[in-house]
Amino acid sequence: MRIAVVGTGYVGLVSAACFARAGQHVACIDIDDKKISMLDQGEIPIYEPGLADAIIEGRSRNRLSFASDASAAKDADVVFIAVGTPARPSDGHADLSQIYAAVEGLAPVLKDGSIIVTKSTVPLGTGDAIEHMIRSVRPELDFDVASNPEFLRAGCALNDFMRPDRDVIGAQDDFAAARLMKLYRNVGIQRQRILVTDRRSAELIKYAANGFLATKIAFINEVAGLCEKANARIGDVTRAIGLDHRIGMQYLQPGPGFGGSCFPKDARALAKMGEDYEAPMRVIETVLASNEARKRSMARRVAVSHHGALRGKTIALLGLPFKAGTDDMRDAVSIPLAQGLTDAGAILRAYDPVAMDRARDLLPPRVRFCGSALEAAEGSDAVVVVTEWKEFSRLDFRKLRKVMRTPLIIDLRNLLDERELQSIGFRYLGIGGSRRHAFERSPASKSPRRASIQRTRDAEEALESIVAGE
Ligand SMILES: NC(=O)c1ccc[n+]([C@@H]2O[C@H](COP(=O)([O-])OP(=O)(O)OC[C@H]3O[C@@H](n4cnc5c(N)ncnc54)[C@H](O)[C@@H]3O)[C@@H](O)[C@H]2O)c1
Repeated sequence: MRIAVVGTGYVGLVSAACFARAGQHVACIDIDDKKISMLDQGEIPIYEPGLADAIIEGRSRNRLSFASDASAAKDADVVFIAVGTPARPSDGHADLSQIYAAVEGLAPVLKDGSIIVTKSTVPLGTGDAIEHMIRSVRPELDFDVASNPEFLRAGCALNDFMRPDRDVIGAQDDFAAARLMKLYRNVGIQRQRILVTDRRSAELIKYAANGFLATKIAFINEVAGLCEKANARIGDVTRAIGLDHRIGMQYLQPGPGFGGSCFPKDARALAKMGEDYEAPMRVIETVLASNEARKRSMARRVAVSHHGALRGKTIALLGLPFKAGTDDMRDAVSIPLAQGLTDAGAILRAYDPVAMDRARDLLPPRVRFCGSALEAAEGSDAVVVVTEWKEFSRLDFRKLRKVMRTPLIIDLRNLLDERELQSIGFRYLGIGGSRRHAFERSPASKSPRRASIQRTRDAEEALESIVAGE
């Protein structure tokens, strides 16, 4: 099968590279000439682990080609559309203008027997609209329109594509479904991982999945807020509920609110679909409101740590994208956080290992971008961990403390070791209450046995020693 992928963003490039790895010939098409000429010269426009190698490999085997004209799809048996579907600023509906522009470009060049597949996340009924558009231009053309939503996660996208929990194929025609299934079987996806359904259900599956995950995050963030007020510990709560296999550990890490290119806009689009179909999505509407409030409250959290007086204080932001492993800055919490802190008069210094170029135009103009975490922390009154990059947990904290004016760390990801930082002399503020064991936090006991328990580094060990002594 010859494949074309329209849109060379995170999803398009990863899909194309993985199909090429599986031996397919893939024509990649994008209207962004600059991107196409970069790709043509072997430069990769985005950061995604493993992607550069996969693209270099595909090019060297002549399985990947890049073009800015839709006519490059003229020989394709399967055309994947992977263009953006951002939220429409006016009302939050999915903006389908990139989809329709792509279809307009493709319609005149499609060959008989081709399958046009939406990999982009598109609302219910988009496949019907695409079918109608193509039929109105090419009434004689034999073609199918299918839905194959993508579930990859930025940061581990290639692995997710090659080893998905499931692939969903939504088609109105068994023959089209079978051809797409064959394509994925060739990539190495097992039959039992491929779910075949109708086109509308496939379109909805993607929104329902993202809506559910967003709900989990918003829920645990609210529980974390309750822990802070009620002196309970979110770490123990998440561990205990996550061990319930009906709930599971994933997407239960409390943080500054969800962002990124998918959850916020997909949750909004799902709420809008509910309105359109008169099937209200009240849960999702609440999740969205809760998440917005959460993101906005992060600047306040930093201000409270300085008793509301941020004017003239220097704050270091470590990490800028919406999560670690990507340079994707879409809807990243660092944006409203930096704005809120700047509005309150703080002086900002920022560092990120991969996203500084993308962040420059999105953060307030006076943010100073630094070459390392240590440089960002110089002279600061607080270091705020915004993105959970592993390298931040391996910093030399003694050195960090020396360069800071005030030894305060605000860890919005509960990434760092609270106990270690406190022992070095930092004031540490995580999310959802202290993670230190109750024994360690209680005042020193007069009982020698209890005192020895308090000295025990590992609280689990301390408990074991009581149990063993009884
Ligand atoms: N990023 C993710 O992690 C992810 C995961 C799953 C699904 N999705 C969905 O996949 C879709 C694409 O997301 P993305 O993050 O890859 O988007 P992106 O914005 O990174 O890339 C979209 C690309 O499409 C190109 N484009 C726009 N209009 C075009 C046209 N008419 N013809 C050719 N190219 C055109 C743009 O220039 C851009 O390079 C979205 O619907 C998104 O919701 C994204």
